[in-house]
Amino acid sequence: MNLSTTFLGQKFPNPIVLASGILGVTAAGMTNVIKNGCGAVTAKSLAVKPRPGHPNPTVISNEHYMINAVGLSGEGLENAEAEFAKYKKNCPKNPLIASVISMKMEGFEAVTKRVNQTKADLIEVNISCPNVEDEFGRSFAALPETAYEATKIVKANSELPVIIKISPNVTSIVEIAKAVEEGGADAVNMGNTLGPGMVIDTHFKKPVLANKMGGVSGPAIKPITVKNVWQISQSTNLPIIATGGILTGNDAVEMFLAGASLVGIGSGVYYRGIEIFQKVNDEIQEYMEKENVGEIKDLIGFAHQ
Ligand SMILES: Cc1cc2nc3c(=O)[nH]c(=O)nc-3n(C[C@H](O)[C@H](O)[C@H](O)COP(=O)(O)O)c2cc1C
Repeated sequence: MNLSTTFLGQKFPNPIVLASGILGVTAAGMTNVIKNGCGAVTAKSLAVKPRPGHPNPTVISNEHYMINAVGLSGEGLENAEAEFAKYKKNCPKNPLIASVISMKMEGFEAVTKRVNQTKADLIEVNISCPNVEDEFGRSFAALPETAYEATKIVKANSELPVIIKISPNVTSIVEIAKAVEEGGADAVNMGNTLGPGMVIDTHFKKPVLANKMGGVSGPAIKPITVKNVWQISQSTNLPIIATGGILTGNDAVEMFLAGASLVGIGSGVYYRGIEIFQKVNDEIQEYMEKENVGEIKDLIGFAHQ
């Protein structure tokens, strides 16, 4: 049974990718994830310049879900460049996906060009960040027009294959995925957090997060990810990274059967510890042995047949 796979021309030793925003800040953090069995890493979403985040508390969790309002804080690509180089020196066989954000449409050009100067292997565009020029505060991922335009700008300026990370918070995921495909994306990541949601502390009678609202992730959102991956696989030719609620090998296999080529794991690190990457690999391997499946690619989209 072979867990290695190829995605956008890059060899992945296994189909698990660290999701953006979790442990993807320093070379040491990303290297540790690889040492624990992950196939590739996505760095924390970055703009060109440093950005402040939201005040604490920013993350809470229970057995069903996590909710976070970290607020896309980061040191900026200028400062991350050295960390990217160190990571690639430590882990030359494990692809590095740079994740970028911009709060204005025009900013996608500069942030993409900045990634070209780094050691990243692929670029992921987090279009779920707020578009500050939208009068209703919608993200670029919320409308087919803005999703298309952001994709086109990144594609025109990138020297690397482009993954667009889309949001489950839309009426028609098919409409968004088709717009991104038309804009020239090489792949999609489905997707970012759900919501936003809110949790109220009944003792203090106030929202728990300082920002009041936050994105929901973890086990509760998995069925929504499966459905979205299924629909994108059915309606586009885009390769898919499935992210949202994956904790076990069985969750990963569900995503492959729905049409995903790779799986992203974020909140799972909080639920099963850093060992989650090796455990999920072992569980996928066990499934493949039991079902007599030779390669990951034999599973991709199988549930559609
Ligand atoms: C604390 C935290 C920080 C995150 N930061 C980012 C980020 O910087 N960029 C991004 O694209 N997604 C970010 N996400 C979303 C995750 O990458 C992922 O898409 C989402 O949590 C769903 O996957 P999961 O259920 O495996 O966590 C963040 C999630 C969490 C929980």
